[in-house]
Amino acid sequence: MNNQKSLSIAAIVMTVALVILIAIFPAQAAESEKRMALHDVMQQLGRDMQAVTGAISEENWGLVAQLAPKIGRHPEPPIAEKLRILAWLGTDAGKFRGFDGQVQDAATPMGEAATRGDGQEVIVAFSEMQQRCLSCHQEFRKPFQEHFYGKR
Ligand code: HEC
Repeated sequence: MNNQKSLSIAAIVMTVALVILIAIFPAQAAESEKRMALHDVMQQLGRDMQAVTGAISEENWGLVAQLAPKIGRHPEPPIAEKLRILAWLGTDAGKFRGFDGQVQDAATPMGEAATRGDGQEVIVAFSEMQQRCLSCHQEFRKPFQEHFYGKR
């Protein structure tokens, strides 16, 4: 193989590599589009609610009393993300926050009932809380995901 030929082969290999890189790059960029911090908050809420279900089955009211304020005062996304979400919500911001406030409002009586060891009332408050999770999800989850992650 003369020098000329191996040079042009090298050029072809490099071109092919470049084309592949260019083809792959946007896919990677899309994949690495980060999940919102709200996603982690929600996953933790989901785990805490599951833990409550488990504690109710065991009549472990002490654990329910511990979990209730954790659910009511769950962490919030960092301020920059909050602003993005609020900007997207626009006039619906009040409604969105209202749903979150309602979750808090239901967490308090659940904690109080648990402290009294009143299983019936714990369950009533728990189901109220789930109603509120569901209301927000039904109204906002899909548009949220479409807006912040693009179509799936
Ligand atoms: C104010 C609105 C709102 C309330 C209230 C709310 N959520 Fe969510 N939740 C969302 C949004 C928006 C998403 C989508 C987030 C995403 O995909 O990044 C979501 C997603 C989730 C997810 C899915 C996470 C995943 O892995 O895809 C879980 C679990 C969850 N929420 C649990 C809860 C629980 C439990 C409650 C009630 C205690 C609750 N949420 C209350 C707005 C809300």
